[in-house]
Amino acid sequence: MEDIGIVMDSFLQVKVTAKTLLAEGIAGYELTPVAGASLPAFEAGSHIDVHLPGGLVRQYSLYELPTEHSCYRIAVLREPESRGGSATLVDTIGEGDVLEISPPRNHFALHGAKASSVLFAGGIGITPILCMAQQLARDGRAFEMHYCGRTLSRMAFVERLQTESFRDQVQVHIDDAAPEQQLDARSAIGAPSPDKHLYVCGPAGFMNHILQAAAELGWNEEHLHREYFAAGPIDHTGDSPFEIEIKSSGKVIRVAADQSAAHALLDAGFDLPLSCEQGVCGTCMTKVLSGTPDHRDLYLTSEEHERNDCFMPCCSRAKTTRLLVDL
Ligand code: FES
Repeated sequence: MEDIGIVMDSFLQVKVTAKTLLAEGIAGYELTPVAGASLPAFEAGSHIDVHLPGGLVRQYSLYELPTEHSCYRIAVLREPESRGGSATLVDTIGEGDVLEISPPRNHFALHGAKASSVLFAGGIGITPILCMAQQLARDGRAFEMHYCGRTLSRMAFVERLQTESFRDQVQVHIDDAAPEQQLDARSAIGAPSPDKHLYVCGPAGFMNHILQAAAELGWNEEHLHREYFAAGPIDHTGDSPFEIEIKSSGKVIRVAADQSAAHALLDAGFDLPLSCEQGVCGTCMTKVLSGTPDHRDLYLTSEEHERNDCFMPCCSRAKTTRLLVDL
C-alpha cells in the first residue's frame, strides 16, 4: 500500500474487566490495559476507536474522568439498526475479552477556561456530556446540564446524576413524562454571550433542534460545539464521477459515480485511515488545495465547509470536476 503520510495511531490492548447493564439496551464496559501499564490521560469530550472482530472500527466516548489512568469506561447502545458495530460489541464482547483500541482523541473539547457552559445530552449522547460535567465541576467552572431521553428505562446514569456533587446543575427531561419535565430548548439555551459555550451530543434530530434554536437566538457558530454519533442517510441521486489529483505525485484518480472518494483512494493503493465512514469522526480528513468539495459530513462546521480547504473522502464528493489534494 502507498503511504499517504498520515500518522496512524498506535494501538493499545485492553481487557474488558467489567461489563454492566447501564439501562435498557445500554452496556457499560470497563477497559483495563493488558500489559498492566497505565493508559494515556485524556480530557473530557475524548473518544477512542474500538477495533472489533471482522475489521469493524467504531468510536465511543469516554464517560468517566479517571482519578488515575488505570481504566477507560465506555457505554454502548445496541442500535436496533446497527451496521454491526454496536450489536457485535454488546452481543459478543464480555468480561475477559481483549480488544484493540486507539489512544483517546478529542474533537469535542471544552472551550474558554473562564467561560460558562450549557450542556445538552440526548440519549446515549450523555457519555461525553457526563464527562464534561465532571470536568467542569472538578475545575469549579459554571455550567448547566440538560439530559433528554424518550423514556426513563432507556436513559443511563439518571440515578447516578442525583448523587453527583453537581446534581443541582442537572435537569433531566423525559419525553413520556409530565409536560413540565419536557425540554423547552429556547429557555434552556438562553441568550448568547461572549463568555458562554454550548455543547450538544445525541441523535441527529435532537442535535439539529438544539443548534437551530441556538442559531435563532443569535448564538455565534464559534460558541456551538457538537459531536454526532451517526449520520442520517445520504441521498446519492445525481452523484457523478469526478477526479482526485494527488499533489505529491501528480497521479489522477477517477472516482466513479457509485463509489466513495475514500474507496477510490484505497483501490488506487493509498492507505487512507477510515473509521466511521459516515462523515462523523474526522479520521479521513484530507486537505484540499484546489477545486470545491461537495461536503456531506457532520464533522466540520458550516464555516469550515465554506473554507473548502479540507474534506471527508468517506462521504463527501466534489462540485468541480477535479479536486487537488495534499497527499
Ligand atoms: S472515516 Fe469518519 S469522517 Fe471519514
